[in-house]
Amino acid sequence: MTTQNNVIIWVVALMMIPLQRQEQLLVVGSYSSTAIECPEPHRTILQQYKDFHNKNKYSPNAQYLVEECWNNGCAGAGDRIRGALFTLRVAIQYKKIWLIDWTRPAPITNFLIHNEVDWRVTGFPDNFFKEPNTLTLDEFNATTFHGNGSEAAVVEKFMAAKKYVIIGAQHFEDRATRLNPVDPEHAIEIGACYFQFLFKLNDTIVKSGESHLRELYGPAPVDYVAWHWRHMDVDFPGEKPLLVSQLAGALDCGRTLAAEIKVDLVRRPMVLITDFHVFRQFVMRGEFQNIRTINITAQHIDRDSNKNVTMQSYQEVFVDLYVLSRARCMLTSWSGYSKLALWMGTAPLLKCHRDWVHCNITTVQNVKRIR
Ligand SMILES: *[C@@H]1O[C@H](CO)[C@@H](O)[C@H](O)[C@H]1NC(C)=O
Ligand SMILES: *[C@@H]1O[C@H](CO)[C@@H](O)[C@H](O)[C@H]1NC(C)=O
Ligand SMILES: *[C@@H]1O[C@H](CO)[C@@H](O)[C@H](O)[C@H]1NC(C)=O
Ligand SMILES: *[C@@H]1O[C@H](CO)[C@@H](O)[C@H](O)[C@H]1NC(C)=O
Ligand SMILES: *[C@@H]1O[C@H](CO)[C@@H](O)[C@H](O)[C@H]1NC(C)=O
Ligand SMILES: *[C@@H]1O[C@H](CO)[C@@H](O)[C@H](O)[C@H]1NC(C)=O
Repeated sequence: MTTQNNVIIWVVALMMIPLQRQEQLLVVGSYSSTAIECPEPHRTILQQYKDFHNKNKYSPNAQYLVEECWNNGCAGAGDRIRGALFTLRVAIQYKKIWLIDWTRPAPITNFLIHNEVDWRVTGFPDNFFKEPNTLTLDEFNATTFHGNGSEAAVVEKFMAAKKYVIIGAQHFEDRATRLNPVDPEHAIEIGACYFQFLFKLNDTIVKSGESHLRELYGPAPVDYVAWHWRHMDVDFPGEKPLLVSQLAGALDCGRTLAAEIKVDLVRRPMVLITDFHVFRQFVMRGEFQNIRTINITAQHIDRDSNKNVTMQSYQEVFVDLYVLSRARCMLTSWSGYSKLALWMGTAPLLKCHRDWVHCNITTVQNVKRIR
C-alpha cells in the first residue's frame, strides 16, 4: 500500500468520526427544535425588550400590561396565545412590562413556562393587578389597533397608566395603526419568534409528546408528516358531515409533502391530530394504512370546566400541539391551533406546510407564507 493510499485512508477515517458521533447523538436524541431565525427588525426589538423587561420588572416606576385568564371564559389555546402575542406588541410599543396569568383551567405553568423574559405574576402585593382598569376597552383599542390620530388624549392616558389588564384575543399579526407593523408575508415566522421568545412547553408535556412519538416512529427522531384537522367537534359536540373528496385530497397532499422530504407514507404514516373524535377513533383502530394518531381525546381548555376533566387531559391539548410542532411538514387547517403549532415549530416546519383542503396554498387562517 502506498503512502498516498494510507493518507487517504486516514482522512476517510477522520471524516467518519464525526459522522458516527452524530448518529449516536441522533439515536439518544429527542425531537428537539432546530432554532428558528427571527427576521429583523424583530430580532433586535425582542432583544431590546428583553433587556428592558429584566431591568424593570420590579422597578417602582414600572408599568404593566397583563394578559389574564382568571375564571371567566377566555377562549381556547389558539385564541389566548394569539392575544398574548398581540399584547406583547403593545407592551413593546408602550414600554410596559408584559405579564401573563391564567388560572383557568389551571395555572399557566402547567402548560407553558417562561423563556426569554420572566412574565410570571409573582412577587407583587396581593390583588395588585385586580384593581379596575383606568382605560376602557374602546380606549385601549384606539391606542393600539384602530386609532386614527384623533385619540392623542387617550394615548397620553395609556402612557400614564400604571397597569392595564386584558383578556386579549386580537390576532397577533393584525394591522394595528399605532404599533410596529408585522410584515404579513412573514407573519408566521415572526409569530414563531414572539411565541418562542415568551414560551417553552412544560416538561411533562414534552416528555409525553416524546413518548408518543417514540411509540409511533421508534426511538430515533425521524422526519414525519403531520396533519391537523380542525373539525370543531370539540366546540360543538356531535358528528358533522365531511366531504370524502376532501379526505382523498388530504391523503394526496400528505403524499406530496412526504415525497418532497423523501418519506414513504406506507412505511412511515403521517400522524393525524384532530378534534374530530369519531374519525380519530377510526384511525386509532388502524383502519387507514397511511395515517396514525396518538391516543388522546382533544379537550377544549375553556369549555369543560364543569366536567370532571383531569389536569392530564388539559395538558394533552398541548401534547397534541407538540406532536404537530415536531413534524418536518404539516397539513394545516383554517385554525388558530394550526398556526400555534407552527409558532411552536422548527425552522424546517415553517417552510413546509400546506392547507389540507387546498394543497396549493400555504395560508393559515388568513396568514400567507412566502415560499
Ligand atoms: C409542569 O406541570 C406539572 C403538572 O403536570 C407541574 O406539577 C409542574 O410544576 C409544572 N412545571 C413547572 C416548571 O411549573
Ligand atoms: C376592542 O377590540 C376587541 C378585539 O377586536 C373587540 O372584541 C372589542 O369589541 C373591541 N371593544 C370595543 C369597546 O371597541
Ligand atoms: C377617528 O376616530 C374617532 C373615534 O375613535 C371618530 O370619531 C373620528 O371621526 C375618526 N376620524 C377620522 C378622520 O376617521
Ligand atoms: C386509549 O387510552 C385509554 C385511556 O385513556 C384506554 O382506555 C384505551 O384502551 C386506549 N386505547 C388504545 C387503542 O390504546
Ligand atoms: C372526578 O374524578 C375523580 C377520579 O378520576 C374522582 O375521584 C372524583 O370523585 C370525580 N369527581 C366528580 C365530582 O365527579
Ligand atoms: C389552487 O387550485 C385551485 C383548483 O384546484 C385553483 O382554483 C386555485 O386558483 C389554485 N390557487 C392557487 C393559489 O394556485
